Amino acid sequence: MSTTSAPIATIASLAAHEGQTVTLRGWLYNLRASGKLLFPIFRDGTGTIQGIVPKAAVPEEVFNTLKELPLESSLTVTGKVRADSRAPSGYELDVENVEVLQRIAEDTPFPITLKEHGVDFLMEHRHLWLRTPRQSAILRVRATIMRAAAEYFDTNGFIRTDPPILTPNACEGTSELFEMDYFDDDKAYLTQSGQLYIEATALALGKVYSFGPTFRAEKSKTRRHLTEFWMIEPEVAFLELDGLLNLAEGFITHIVTRVLEQHRADLKVIGKDVTKLEAVIAPGSGTNNEVSSRPERSEVEGPAAGSATDRGAPSFAPFAKGGVSSGARPSSPEEPQTLGAPGPDSGTWDRSATEPNRFPRLTYDEAHAMLEQAYAEGKIENPHKYGDDFGSPDETYISSQFDKPVMIHRYPAAIKAFYMQPDPADPTKALCVDVLAPEGYGEIIGGSQRVDSYDLLKSRIEEHNLPLAAFQWYLDLRKYGSVPHSGFGMGIERAVAWICGLDHVRETIPFARTLNRIYP
Ligand code: 4AD
Ligand code: MG
Repeated sequence: MSTTSAPIATIASLAAHEGQTVTLRGWLYNLRASGKLLFPIFRDGTGTIQGIVPKAAVPEEVFNTLKELPLESSLTVTGKVRADSRAPSGYELDVENVEVLQRIAEDTPFPITLKEHGVDFLMEHRHLWLRTPRQSAILRVRATIMRAAAEYFDTNGFIRTDPPILTPNACEGTSELFEMDYFDDDKAYLTQSGQLYIEATALALGKVYSFGPTFRAEKSKTRRHLTEFWMIEPEVAFLELDGLLNLAEGFITHIVTRVLEQHRADLKVIGKDVTKLEAVIAPGSGTNNEVSSRPERSEVEGPAAGSATDRGAPSFAPFAKGGVSSGARPSSPEEPQTLGAPGPDSGTWDRSATEPNRFPRLTYDEAHAMLEQAYAEGKIENPHKYGDDFGSPDETYISSQFDKPVMIHRYPAAIKAFYMQPDPADPTKALCVDVLAPEGYGEIIGGSQRVDSYDLLKSRIEEHNLPLAAFQWYLDLRKYGSVPHSGFGMGIERAVAWICGLDHVRETIPFARTLNRIYP
């Protein structure tokens, strides 16, 4: 079998080679034989394609080599590209020649076969599981989510500033810290969030973001928790809570828009219902029309429900501002006039940037009232206790009432982080937001306006028993030209799980780190 002079192509680019003979470099993914006909499926990382190998049409050596070839052996294959409307990729390959790079030994076949394997087995073989079409498709979507996330900030005047990964103190709670020795007698901790550091860079540069790995020694064994995950975090000087909600809405809309533009084929392989994603970026209020029993606003107004309305954020009824929708216009950085990114002179974002989408916004109190009513109607099993965080079934119920992400703001300060600014209208509440993904995927974004008063921040640090000395630099930010500022963090893996419709975050990252797994 001699090397041919056919041009090298990739499976994803075969449309440009229709009718031509090309060489593909990859692996044998699957093989079916039917008498004198072989149907190998090749994969090359960009996709899969079925080859046709009639015994009579190829050199005997080619037929015999392929016929006995163990799956996942590496090879180059040369053949003519033929359009075939029945083929998933639209093309088939009339094989002319094959060169095997490595033939897998017969007695050690590729461990992952087309039959069902248990999750433990698959995770133990994650380095090989990654090769299967569905896992590869998830990683392609992940890459686009990360690119689109960074692109949104890069094209809207944000400066990427990288916070340290080794830190001297906690940010999100001391119980979840990975500790390590740092020379002599010092301790260091793996970062839980870049937030505190990008507050410093935001006061230097105005609008910044960070994007990197974060670590939490979470003892929770849930399908949403990893011990190592990637977080993207914007932080903006002179931005208040309302503006932060608008920023999160534009950001999510942009990411979903990009995924739908680029990954319909991958989403199909993954098995995601794309109409659910289309609904996220469609104009309208985000109310789930299938749910007719949604309570009227007056019934669910909680004690402090008015505060959201005061700030121009629609209160419980997300369409309270009715009639503003002006048709589909997914936010995109190509529309700088509508993105209205806040400069140092503007406290809020231009609402027109995101108004066509208008993700529903609920105060904590409104969300609580919604759960009370659901419990009374027997729609959820356990009552939600006022003052507690929302549990997973609570979040699932709330998000099921809408087909867009839901933004819940103004949680009780007592259950949120020390750095969150109190609501002046009700200081027992924090100016914070959690964004819940649709379809029960839970929290994907957490953020807040930050305490900007030196004295208040100092007393918060003390109340939380945090070491004042380690936070002196952070307090300095409130001593030298303090301004209102806000930011949020989105965990990439939570976003991938939602957008791809995956049961568990372990499939959203090439090598998941969880409570009980650090291999491979
Ligand atoms: O809500 P969190 O804890 O917020 C912060 O860390 C803030 N300092 C962010 C900020 O304001 N700059 O985490 C933010 C997001 C969550 O909404 C979730 O998407 C993700 O990070 N996340 C996790 N993802 C996977 N595994 C875990 N154990 C996660 N913990 C948080
Ligand atoms: Mg959170």
